[in-house]
Amino acid sequence: MKKQILMVLAVASASILAGCSDNNSPGKSAAKDSITEAPFGADSTGAPVKLFTLRNASGAEATISSYGGLVTSLKMPDKDGKFGDVVLGYDNVAAYIKDTPYFGALIGRYGNRIAKGKFTLDGKEYTLATNNFPNALHGGLKGFDKVMWTAKSAQTADGPSLELTYVSKDGEEGYPGNLSVKAVYTLTEDNALKLEYTATTDKATVVNLTHHSYFNLAGKGDILNHTVMITADKFTPVDSTLIPTGELKPVEGTPFDFRTPTTIGARIGQDDEQLKFGKGYDHNWVINKPAGQMGLMARVSEPTSGRVLEVSSDEPGLQFYSGNFLDGTLTGKGGWVYQFRNGFCMEPQHFPDSPNQPNFPSVVLKPGETYHNTIVYKFSFQH
Ligand code: GLA
Repeated sequence: MKKQILMVLAVASASILAGCSDNNSPGKSAAKDSITEAPFGADSTGAPVKLFTLRNASGAEATISSYGGLVTSLKMPDKDGKFGDVVLGYDNVAAYIKDTPYFGALIGRYGNRIAKGKFTLDGKEYTLATNNFPNALHGGLKGFDKVMWTAKSAQTADGPSLELTYVSKDGEEGYPGNLSVKAVYTLTEDNALKLEYTATTDKATVVNLTHHSYFNLAGKGDILNHTVMITADKFTPVDSTLIPTGELKPVEGTPFDFRTPTTIGARIGQDDEQLKFGKGYDHNWVINKPAGQMGLMARVSEPTSGRVLEVSSDEPGLQFYSGNFLDGTLTGKGGWVYQFRNGFCMEPQHFPDSPNQPNFPSVVLKPGETYHNTIVYKFSFQH
């Protein structure tokens, strides 16, 4: 086995510090952006997995694995300036390989569900694994969260960054076309994790990439006291297998109305058919903005830590999932046993089952076109 090399790329950040008053005080050592690379075990074929830690000048950190493009840790300041990990996950790659509900995952080729694992494109029917019976979920048995990505780190004008690339072969997991995918993760100087996905294909296919971190802004306990605001007048109700019925339903007068900030726990227990189907929130909101335009989708805050998360994207939909399938059977980082609703996901994406829903924005990618999805998770705090 090759000797593992620990590499630290420390980048002097005089220009960055110019705008950062905290670090300008005399006598304080100048903070720097850095990118650290460390071994993270091996995948099931024995290939070494690398872990990259992006650190910005103020001390925030994002750690990403070359296996699955997983965000394994995300350290952000609370209202007292204390850094804490705000995502769920594991200490080692073996645990991710063994059993994960998509902790921190890069999701593809198709995020969320495709009804009965079937869709038709240009007159041809394609069949996918029904890995979330009776439907296909998150790219199949071996989705993009379970493949090895080629990683290249770089210091950019925006902050330290990691570029991951992967070519998904024609027919992989049942999807047509060789799909070349690029995912760029950047930790910006203002404590945002920016994800930029692009993809091209050599045959018409369907693409819906997203990110699946389970956030907990307090770093412990359940997420019911987190306050959520979602910029959506409508959502897409589902059937009992979580496939959209096709209706765009007004949130007005339902527990899905998050236009006014409301805690997750306030209405999650209501006697509501949609909440029953999802075992809580596990739905797609139709964001109030033209598709393709970057805009705020959600704002989440947590009172004890003061941490605030703002989610922006150019996608038309947002899947808000309240961790309803966590059940105390998985033990994560630092021995935390993940109980019911200990984390929530905010997944900007196209609507679930779009390949079978003619009235939803299209997810078809043709040769010569470039798929784009930009997601920004921006952290701050309030007192
Ligand atoms: C998504 C889905 C959920 C669930 C999780 C993973 O958020 O919408 O139903 O499958 O992924 O457990």
